[in-house]
Amino acid sequence: MTEQTLLIVKPDAVEKKLIGEIIRRVENAGYEIKNIRMLTLEEQRAEAFYKIHQDKYFFKPLIDFMISGPCVPVVVEGQYAISGLREMVGATDPNEAAEGTIRKDFATNGRRNAVHASDSSESAVREIAFFFDNQSE
Ligand code: CMP
Repeated sequence: MTEQTLLIVKPDAVEKKLIGEIIRRVENAGYEIKNIRMLTLEEQRAEAFYKIHQDKYFFKPLIDFMISGPCVPVVVEGQYAISGLREMVGATDPNEAAEGTIRKDFATNGRRNAVHASDSSESAVREIAFFFDNQSE
């Protein structure tokens, strides 16, 4: 089944000049890049994107991190792209991420973890619209 998902190259990975390397991995795995942009999130937009985590202890530092510099949202398409990208990205904390995953190789810690990838088809639809549809949130 062909799916689209949202990948975000987060500010830590942009700062480390890893945009190309991360996209290269995604393309090498057979996925297509369907859309891409670079922006610096404003605080309210970051809070809206991560509203599901608003009661978590890590919410405020997460928002501060996400607005600290530019990020690169990317629409990725391919067979079972949602689960496939989650697998490529690895666990939230790089210490728990499998060998060869993006976070294992590039994340600094559980917050500054290089990338985000949609966790479900509902999230993918919402998150793609969030960055690529002017009418969204
Ligand atoms: P992401 O996959 O974008 O989804 C939520 C983000 O919150 C996560 O990546 C991390 O950047 C951050 N996060 C999740 N859990 C923790 C945690 N325990 N401590 C700090 N940050 C976290």
